[in-house]
Amino acid sequence: MTGVDFEPGALETARTLAAESGVEARFVCSTVDALPEALDGQFDIVFTSYGVLMWLPDLARWAEVVAHFLRPGGRFHLVEFHPVVGALGEEPDPQLQPWYFIGGPHRWEGDRDYADRSHVLEHPQYEWVHKVGDVVSALVDAGLMLESLGEHPVAAEQMRPYMVRDRDDERWWRIPGDPIPLSYSVRARKP
Ligand SMILES: C[S@@+](CC[C@H](N)C(=O)[O-])C[C@H]1O[C@@H](n2cnc3c(N)ncnc32)[C@H](O)[C@@H]1O
Repeated sequence: MTGVDFEPGALETARTLAAESGVEARFVCSTVDALPEALDGQFDIVFTSYGVLMWLPDLARWAEVVAHFLRPGGRFHLVEFHPVVGALGEEPDPQLQPWYFIGGPHRWEGDRDYADRSHVLEHPQYEWVHKVGDVVSALVDAGLMLESLGEHPVAAEQMRPYMVRDRDDERWWRIPGDPIPLSYSVRARKP
């Protein structure tokens, strides 16, 4: 297994977690865009997990890099927070915000660290809102064949205060009544 991040501290934590879990893995310090210069080889599976796409300005390049590292017949998997969640306010009776079609970059200041809500971030953040259709189109444009697209009423973290733990599986959070999708998943194959 090979993991990628451009933040050395995140990689150190990943190495520690892998060692504690007894998982054999290596970690490469690189941006996604520059990865073909930092890493050789082709892989059976490429996986992009929660909280990745919102930091990337160029979906076409990301999809090219995914396709570059897949061996022919290899599979790509994506699981991400659903971008429509950005339209929800902080209050339990959510007001929809103009969010889904704003594109990017979207600049945030004074936000709180998602790992420690008491810590106010000192730097501005820039995010891009990638519509599900744009994500899927980028993968298809990069030559991948779409096998499935799923939208799910659960998320892997509590993205709003009114999300509650799933009654049957406490790894998941959901909004009572499941009004909108909170995450989505894509499976695609390199021909
Ligand atoms: C929300 S975290 C991802 C968490 C991870 N998917 C998980 O499920 O545990 C986002 C990560 O993306 C990294 N990142 C942001 N932009 C990047 C880029 N252009 N290239 C590589 N890594 C990047 C950040 O350093 C951060 O560790």
